[in-house]
Amino acid sequence: MLEALTAPAPDKIIELMGLYAADPRADKLDLGVGVYKDAEGRTPIMRAVKAAEQRLWQEQATKSYVGLLGDLGFVEAMRDLIFGAAVPAERVSGAQTPGGTGAVRQLLELARLANPEATVWYSDPTWPNHPAILKYLGIPSTTYRYFDAATRGVDFDGMIADLGAAKAGDVVLLHGCCHNPTGANPTFAEWQALTDLCLDRGLVPMIDLAYQGFGDGLDEDVAGVRHMAARVPELLLAASCSKNFGLYRDRVGAAFTVTADAGVTPLARGNLATLNRLNYSFPPDHGAKTVGIILTDPALRADWIAELEAMRQGMLTLRSGLAEALRRATNSDRFDFVATHRGMFSRLGAMPAQVAALRADHGVYMVGDSRINIAGLPAGGLDRLAAAIAAVGA
Ligand code: LMR
Repeated sequence: MLEALTAPAPDKIIELMGLYAADPRADKLDLGVGVYKDAEGRTPIMRAVKAAEQRLWQEQATKSYVGLLGDLGFVEAMRDLIFGAAVPAERVSGAQTPGGTGAVRQLLELARLANPEATVWYSDPTWPNHPAILKYLGIPSTTYRYFDAATRGVDFDGMIADLGAAKAGDVVLLHGCCHNPTGANPTFAEWQALTDLCLDRGLVPMIDLAYQGFGDGLDEDVAGVRHMAARVPELLLAASCSKNFGLYRDRVGAAFTVTADAGVTPLARGNLATLNRLNYSFPPDHGAKTVGIILTDPALRADWIAELEAMRQGMLTLRSGLAEALRRATNSDRFDFVATHRGMFSRLGAMPAQVAALRADHGVYMVGDSRINIAGLPAGGLDRLAAAIAAVGA
């Protein structure tokens, strides 16, 4: 039986992790997978996470099952963190999922259950797992223009023009903030225009929110999402705690639905619970419980926000530092966009051969589409990276 399997297409981010690990050079630079690193190249466990885990270890009396929707304290705290007061709580249903990917997967399955005719529109480019999951699920999907290769900003006119061809009931997959892989994001006014477009054409937004707090701040990063959620009748949202709580391997995420009518909320909630049951029964508890403790304890929450804010500021400092280093190295301002992008990633716009040369000749690892993870840069790495980019003629 198993010989009938075909070899799976490699995921380019996971593949790159393996190539980097196998490279013996001591001065190699890992700008690949989206993992935050501090100036010493470590991915620390956040202070509030350690404290909450300690409390959990001391106080938790059982490891028995929780429920199909996971820890409801976590789900409600995440709902409030994301939506604030934008939507009445009775119109929101949520389920804990294994990471943001689990939420994306469950929500796409939910959309398919609700409307098998819907086409899912996703940005060109997007996180490679989006089209991979859509293809695997057999969901009709297509792209909308997103990135302006000349300015390295959002091609908003192209985006609006392409989405103008979407039919009522289609799903528009948007990145809530910190677009992956480009780093280019719609302005608030553009979020307003996207909201109007969804209303005019009867489109259902699905937000992938994996980097809240990594761009302009916890509330700022969801200003567009909240505007949209407050106005459209229905919305889907996949949230990840991998990055902003640094809980990557613990797989902490949540899938939310906003329903047009509070009467539909139990139906959405019931289907999310059933999808959990069908795919893995109970979502993993430890990380979500940890996040729930942090978000509901004022002191731990304040400490988490302070540490997250320091991480965010560090990434902004790296951005402006890299833009300056690239000015010096290339004697031009053509990389200034690095300073205006937000989140962990920027797409540099280098050619595949230049990306390959950066890896082979300089030990600089970035995704093949020239996405760099700015947080992968160690202190003192700015000039070395800028020199390498200039040397390959990018
Ligand atoms: C990334 O884009 O590098 C991260 O979201 C990690 C992943 O799972 O791909």
